[in-house]
Amino acid sequence: MSKIMFSENLQSKLHGEEWLIWQEQYEAKENLKYESLFALSNGYLGIRGSHEEGTKITLPYLYINGVFDKSETFMRELATLPNWLGIKLYVEKELIGIEDCEIVEFARVLDMKGAFLGKRVHLRDSKGRETLIEGIRFVSRNNVHRMGIKLHVTPLNYSGIIEVESIIDGSIINFYDAPRFKVKHTYMTANEKLATDGCYIEVATRENHLHVGCGCRIEAYADGKPVLGNRMTSIFGEQCIEFGDIHVEEGKEVEIVKYVSMYTERECPAYALHTTVEKEIEQFIETGFEEELKLHEAVYAQMWENADLKITGDAELNQAIRFNIFHLMSTGNEHDEHVNVGAKLLTGEEYGGHAFWDTELFMLPFFAWVFPKTAQNLENYRYHLLDAARANAHKNGYKGAQYPWESADDGTEQCPDWTIEPDGTCYRCYVAVYEHHVTAAVAYGICNYIKITQDMEFLYSKGAEILTETARFWASRCEYNQAQDRYEINQVTGPDEWHEPVNNNLYTNYLARWNLRYVLSLLTAMKEEKADAYRALVEKTGLTECEMETWREVQEKIYLPRKEGTKLLEQFEGYFELDNVTIEQYDENDWPVRPEALKTKKASETQITKQADVVMLLHLLSEEFDEETMKENYTYYEKRALHGSSLSPSIFSVMGLKVGDDSKAYRYLRRAAFIDLLNMQGNTREGIHAANTGGVWQTVVFGFAGVSQREDGMLKVRPNMPKEWQNLTFRLHYRGAWLEITVDGANQAEIKRLAGEAVEVEVNGVVKEI
Ligand code: BGC
Repeated sequence: MSKIMFSENLQSKLHGEEWLIWQEQYEAKENLKYESLFALSNGYLGIRGSHEEGTKITLPYLYINGVFDKSETFMRELATLPNWLGIKLYVEKELIGIEDCEIVEFARVLDMKGAFLGKRVHLRDSKGRETLIEGIRFVSRNNVHRMGIKLHVTPLNYSGIIEVESIIDGSIINFYDAPRFKVKHTYMTANEKLATDGCYIEVATRENHLHVGCGCRIEAYADGKPVLGNRMTSIFGEQCIEFGDIHVEEGKEVEIVKYVSMYTERECPAYALHTTVEKEIEQFIETGFEEELKLHEAVYAQMWENADLKITGDAELNQAIRFNIFHLMSTGNEHDEHVNVGAKLLTGEEYGGHAFWDTELFMLPFFAWVFPKTAQNLENYRYHLLDAARANAHKNGYKGAQYPWESADDGTEQCPDWTIEPDGTCYRCYVAVYEHHVTAAVAYGICNYIKITQDMEFLYSKGAEILTETARFWASRCEYNQAQDRYEINQVTGPDEWHEPVNNNLYTNYLARWNLRYVLSLLTAMKEEKADAYRALVEKTGLTECEMETWREVQEKIYLPRKEGTKLLEQFEGYFELDNVTIEQYDENDWPVRPEALKTKKASETQITKQADVVMLLHLLSEEFDEETMKENYTYYEKRALHGSSLSPSIFSVMGLKVGDDSKAYRYLRRAAFIDLLNMQGNTREGIHAANTGGVWQTVVFGFAGVSQREDGMLKVRPNMPKEWQNLTFRLHYRGAWLEITVDGANQAEIKRLAGEAVEVEVNGVVKEI
């Protein structure tokens, strides 16, 4: 509960405490973390939560999803685009800013329900003048080309003139605070007045010359009447600034409103960008800031209806879970099938906005169950890049389609071969060379998406083609070992990147086998039931019976290492011969302490792992293992997992529940839910951990609520609630119906059908019609 109260006009906009994330103290060194936590996205673009007046420590980035550029850097990365946040207020040349004045009061709040950022600062300047500034900013989801900031400014103990600067800054570069990585991805093509007033900056990406236009206009009102005087716009290199002044009276509030719009050449021709932006701003002003905010909130209200997870009995954790859902659903885009969800969403620069296996295995389940249209777009994204994946396989000497480990807009491999360490040494990065399991993840994602949504149209027209090409890839990736009469995948990296490369990573081999088997059975069924689609597929891909025969042989004989005579699965060939180091100590947060042995040995020489690997396999293909195998392997690998990746805790949580280890499951969920809010990995400044946000959702829904699908596809609910929770309620979209599921502390589940036709669901072993 915050101690801070806003004035009436802002306070009345705030939703209940369970929807609010507060920052109640200003500490410059925390700026970058809060910029990630308070980033706002509307699927189309994302902007970090920097301060309007600017601060010394800041990475004030704005990205439009899908706008990538490479230039001098190692990879195509999301280009930092002109930032429109800037508003500076001056009294007699003194900047009224948090780093320039004494802070009397400070608070910012992310309202997740309304999807806006609020602030209240009370500042005292060097002459003792006190100003209260309250503000709100949002990036509209009603119209993704509209963004706005409103500041309520009250001179508390003086009257006079406040000078206003409203800025668009086109000079911001990527990796601003990392000397060797700095890069400017755009060049300026226009810097001019928007119309009679206002600013307009247009830039183009350096390689593809994709134009992006950004315009803004500022207004000021007192008692609803315009009061901005002496308006003018000036150009300063790569900045465009609109000036104005306001006569203010002690104790009397004025409102400053900044209306902003952005478009890219993807939405309108370059020559029309300026007029499109200008018109959008005119119309935005006509609609009004408050009205647009209302429309924006209405879209979010609808999104939350379906996406919220309501927990009774654990308010703090519930809020943290909401925070993860908020960022994930804010980034998903239901309108654009050419963009994905990057590993840091649109909230930070690490990983350049690239899509990884994180999308299919961590985030897609959330979208498929809650935002099926967004999930379909994510599938289409992979389909659009199928030719690039084919070329990638070809380049690497394989057949079929090999999806890149890191994917941007053109589907070529974007995981860099080299990087530079902070000490200046060059580091050869082998991830893209060896880590191949993303191709199986793409196939698994399709299968999962179809199972959840029943989008057979996608499966037959596009999915089957991707699947065929992925099967082809795996068959060509496997090597035949004549001496052992088996197929192997050598020189490969599994999910655990601390052992790189290895031979026969069990996860990869199992998923390759699954991929081949799934495609074989799909094609057999298609041939029978969808003869036309099958024929079209054969024509398109040149698939032959003989080739399918080879696939049958490969999947039958693929090597799956395990400890002979036991149920222990071996992470890769030779893993059990490594130094058997285990985790023995836990810190005050009950989190594994890095074993002493790692001071003298590399992790690769030991059995210590970075993240769920065998356990990830158990999670994805649990139907292939008996209970004892799952339990034994979970216990074994849990003792050896250091969770060096944020992709790890949620999977251990879900799997812990599956094998009956519920004490740790709850602890893991807390870890995952608070990873960014408490900066537990120490790198939240670089952006929100996207896969983890999806992992948090999976942990609650698949883990504690026990949601899964039977082999025949029927929805199954078998809850396993933590003792801390009295109730859990959430919604799922299932076979055209919307279901609301409520689970109580005694693991009883009640399911209501809110829309759609009747469906059958298995609840605690009993099949019911809902
Ligand atoms: C993890 C990968 C993950 C990537 C992007 C790495 O640290 O090991 O599994 O895909 O981060 O999130």
